[in-house]
Amino acid sequence: MDAEKVARAYSSPNWWYDLRGFLILHFSYRDGLIPLLNFFSRNGSARHLEIAVGSGSFLRLVLAMRKLKRQSPMQGAAIDYAPTMLSGALRRLTSERGWKVERADAAHLPFANESFETINCANSLHSIPDDRGAMAEAFRVLRPGGTFALNVVLTPRGGKISRWIADKIAEWGIRKGILTRTYAEKEIQALVASPGFEIIQARIRGNNYCLVARKPTAQR
Ligand SMILES: C[S@@+](CC[C@H](N)C(=O)[O-])C[C@H]1O[C@@H](n2cnc3c(N)ncnc32)[C@H](O)[C@@H]1O
Repeated sequence: MDAEKVARAYSSPNWWYDLRGFLILHFSYRDGLIPLLNFFSRNGSARHLEIAVGSGSFLRLVLAMRKLKRQSPMQGAAIDYAPTMLSGALRRLTSERGWKVERADAAHLPFANESFETINCANSLHSIPDDRGAMAEAFRVLRPGGTFALNVVLTPRGGKISRWIADKIAEWGIRKGILTRTYAEKEIQALVASPGFEIIQARIRGNNYCLVARKPTAQR
């Protein structure tokens, strides 16, 4: 599946996308919104890139959480490939200072090498057809020593009923085109490591695998 097909799959109205996302988080990822906001709000800077920002609702909540915790301002660029998603992100981020929202393919980023200090890719890598290309691009545009936080949905695990529900949601997502694939733990570790990232933090809750990777300061 290519990026154009994904953009078409993500053409639902923003209100339905947000509600659907909340249900997917609980029944497919089997994780909670607050732990996920906590995870992503820890990785922010004044030179931040948000990959696959979607409707912008999740990033707005991350920004709100950072303000609540009196963390330093998070500003930068946010990209997505689906025009319907981008229009929501533009609307939601206009009131936030220091944000630029633009259409771009995560596997072909329109930024110079080492432009960013932090990068987040929330709930999205499993929706990006060229996940390896996206990983290589994140590595390229991150400065050495910079950190990249991401999460992916694992191939469903756990109890019989919850696994059955998560399996059905994944099958539906793949049919609809909003999900490209699910991952085994080792597959995502290998993918993150492929351009040269080192994994410095990892945690699994339900079927949700959250990782923080760092770009080494000296290339080995
Ligand atoms: C499940 S949504 C998550 C969005 C947002 N981060 C959130 O948490 O609500 C996945 C997003 O990935 C975007 N996407 C998929 N493939 C992409 C690509 N190649 N480049 C940029 N964005 C892409 C989709 O348009 C969609 O907005």
